[in-house]
Amino acid sequence: MFITFEGIEGTGKSTQITKIKDYYESLGKTVFLTKEPGGSRVGTELRKMLLHVDNKDITPITELFLYLADRAQHIEQVIRPALDAGDVVLCDRFADSTIVYQGYGRGLDTTILKQLNEVAVNGLWPDLTVVLDIDPEIGLKRATLRNIEDGKAKEEGRFEAEHLSFHNRIREGYLTWAALNHDRMEVVDASATPDEVFEKIKAVLECHRSKTD
Ligand code: TYD
Repeated sequence: MFITFEGIEGTGKSTQITKIKDYYESLGKTVFLTKEPGGSRVGTELRKMLLHVDNKDITPITELFLYLADRAQHIEQVIRPALDAGDVVLCDRFADSTIVYQGYGRGLDTTILKQLNEVAVNGLWPDLTVVLDIDPEIGLKRATLRNIEDGKAKEEGRFEAEHLSFHNRIREGYLTWAALNHDRMEVVDASATPDEVFEKIKAVLECHRSKTD
């Protein structure tokens, strides 16, 4: 089972992913947690390039190919082997981030992005994608604060430094893209407390399990 998590900055994705890991482990499953960018050894290097605030001059096309390179490496070296071993794979961001950030955010053609994603994922699409939705003003405040607390404002702050209008486009992009792909993508309101949000995600996971079991 391959589940991905998406959303703008500061939705509380990582907190929820940890809770979901515990939930699957309580069902006796082996869980493998991973993320993009940076889920493989080579990807760790690409992540540094992609997120450092000094790299504001990266062009949208360069950015796109770096994310796709990260994904191609991640799929073949990390995700596919974990799925073959029978793990539940939980991935923090995946191909939908490219459609939404590089497409709806940077203005690249989403049809072309979908084709390029097909090349990068090489047939391996998530079984389910959970999109955490929150007002960008709230999300951005949370994410900026977290980067400062973690001492990563410079190393990881390139996207947080974007204007609110960019983050609003990203949020709208996720909602549009999720509606177009409603067979695989589920939107969950992330404005409630972490426990309440987790209950909503659990209901989505259980509904998905009952459909596929
Ligand atoms: P990260 O610190 O992992 O963000 P978060 O904690 O919000 O998940 O940074 C990843 C950034 O990269 C995030 O701003 C979204 C962006 N991104 C893209 O623009 N395209 C992509 O394909 C991916 C995977 C991420």
